[in-house]
Formats: sequence, C-alpha cells, structure tokens
Amino acid sequence: MRADPPGLNRRALLAAPLILAPSSLAACERFASAEVAPGPDAPPLKSLADFPIGATGMTGQLDDPVWVAAMRRDVDQITPEWELKPERILQPGFAYDFSASDRMVDWGHEQGLRVFGHTLVWYSQGLDQFTDALPTARFAAEFDRYVSTVAGRYRGRMVGWDVVNEAVAEDGDGLRDCVYARKLGPEAYIVRAFEQARAADPDAVLFLNDYNLENNPRKGATFLRLVERLLAQGAPIGGIGTQSHLDIEIPAGQIRDFFRDAASLGLPIHVSELDFPMQRDGGRAPDLRSTADRRAQQVARVGELAEAFMALPARQRFAFTTWGLRDSDSWLVREEGKNRPNESALLLDGEGRPNPAFQAVAGAFGR
Ligand code: XIL
Repeated sequence: MRADPPGLNRRALLAAPLILAPSSLAACERFASAEVAPGPDAPPLKSLADFPIGATGMTGQLDDPVWVAAMRRDVDQITPEWELKPERILQPGFAYDFSASDRMVDWGHEQGLRVFGHTLVWYSQGLDQFTDALPTARFAAEFDRYVSTVAGRYRGRMVGWDVVNEAVAEDGDGLRDCVYARKLGPEAYIVRAFEQARAADPDAVLFLNDYNLENNPRKGATFLRLVERLLAQGAPIGGIGTQSHLDIEIPAGQIRDFFRDAASLGLPIHVSELDFPMQRDGGRAPDLRSTADRRAQQVARVGELAEAFMALPARQRFAFTTWGLRDSDSWLVREEGKNRPNESALLLDGEGRPNPAFQAVAGAFGR
C-alpha cells in the first residue's frame, strides 16, 4: 500500500473537524458528508452516472490484472494516455507507427469500453517532422495526411477525438503560437484539422480540448469565443473538451460560471482529464495548508465541478473522465509527469478505494 502524503493521518483526517478557509465554506457545506471518504465497499464509479465515466490507460498497464479489474469495475470509457499522440505515432520521414495505438484501441474494444482518441494535433508534438523549414505545400499535405490517416484508421471505433489540443495561449490572451498556426494560419489549421477528421470519420464526435478553462476565467472565455468563431467558419466541432486539471485553491463559483457559459454553445461537453492536485506547482509561497484543508478544498471544487456537469442538459453530458483511474496511475505521481510520489489527486486512492472527493461526485450525481 502506498504511504499517505506526509502528515496525512487518514484516520485522524476522517475524524477531525475541518477548519475551512471562508471562501470554501459555502461550497464545501453542500458536500459536508463528502469529507468522510465512503468505505471500501463504495459503488463502482460508473454506477454513479447515466453518462460515461472514463479514465486513461497505457499499454504498460494492460498486463496488470489489478488495474484491468479496476478499469472493468469502475469505468465504461478509456482514453489512451499516450499511444494516440503524435509523439508516439509520427516517425521520421512522416512514417507512422500504429503498433501501440492499435493495441490500446483493440484492448478497449475487447473490454467492451468506449474508446476516446487523444489527440490528433497538439502544439507541443510532431515538431520533429512538422517544422517551419518545411515548404508550406508539403507541410499542408503531410498535415492533412496525418489527421486523415490516423482518424481514418480507427473510423467507427472511436466515440470521439480531441482533434486539436491546447490551441489557446497559456494566459488566455489570444491563441497559442505554434508551427501549425505559423504555417497554415492561426485558426485555419484548426478548421483544417476538423475538416480532415470529419471526412475520415463521419461518426466520431470531434472536440476542441484545452486546460485551465475553469482555473483562469480569461482563458475559458477566450476558448469559448474561439469555438464560436470556428463554428462560424464551418469547422465541424461536435464538442468541447475541458481538461479540468483543477486548481483547488480557486474561488468558489468559477467552475460553475465556466460551465454555464460553455453550456450556452449547446455542444456536448467532455470533462476530459480531471485531476485535482493537493500539492501546488512550484513558484508560490510556502504551502501552509493542512492536509485536512487540502482535502476540503478538493471536495469543494470537485463537488462544484460535478454539480456544474449535472446542471448541463443530458444531451450535453458527453463523458466524465479522470486522468488516471487511481492515485497511483496519475501522471502527477510519475517522474515524467510531476514526479510527486505522495500526490493524491483522483477519486480513488492507490488501492482503488474512494478518496474524500468521491463522495462529492456521488452526491452531485445523485447516487
Ligand atoms: C500527459 C501524460 O499524462 C504524461 O504521461 C506525459 O508525459 C505528458 O502528457 N494535458 C494533456 C495530456 O492534454 O495529453 C497530458 O498528458 C496532460 C496535460
């Protein structure tokens, strides 16, 4: 069993009265019962909702019977965490290697899971081949060929795709500068990618996906305005993906407000990469929060997210996906991610037992 985060005494935590920052009091009251994680016999995650519950997985987990059993118990959708990304498929000379992606898609279908594709175009990947030096005509041809070949290979087998990932600037001030924008046009590359994906797979729901949309209201607003402009240009955007890597210290209400604004576009919404770290990214002041305070912040923010998702019309609830199934599966723990071995940022702990935020989700989903 993985040790709890330093200073976390689970028994004391569950028994202790929580001293809450005023800002989280109101939101947290609704989930007061959530501060006590339910017992080990809590229901499967997927039984909490009448919409798909998803989690990520990678080929390295497919031979782990404990993980396989947990996935079969708790989710009905899988997002390959790495294998469908350009950095894994695209090879030198614009060759493609589908060995890992095929294995993930085949496995998902063998388990009876929905398979969600992440991601066709991402500013941070494919850059060994897609360079500024490439003649624009060749760049465009290879761009079209990549999107249409990958989406076409899995035609009819993917419930949806993150067609373009993280197109908005980090601070929300306009669009992100990237080679695709420079070579094909800052919005034209996005329209192009969606058109190629639609032609290759007429049935998959096509998403524009991004992060910090709740954490940074300016970025959330820029993202939604971008979606509106792309739709006006005819881009066949079928859904909005909000990664929801939540900053649990944001004020109450930001999450609710983003979902209210996002809902007004009328598109299906995918909570696509939910996690809610207890540990801060670097650069801030010393973190003096107690473990109990952090758990309470998780409960309040995740509860707000789940409530906001439930407030959507049923046709707009595409899926609710966590980025990892159990704490031990999280990229935040792994060295290539955030390298935080004691992080606890998901609904299930390392043993697959519910963390405190589980009850907030169960409560919001009405189960
Ligand atoms: C992450 C993976 O989880 C890591 O294993 C990898 O090293 C980096 O990428 N937003 C995204 C995901 O859209 O693709 C990222 O996944 C996490 C942030």
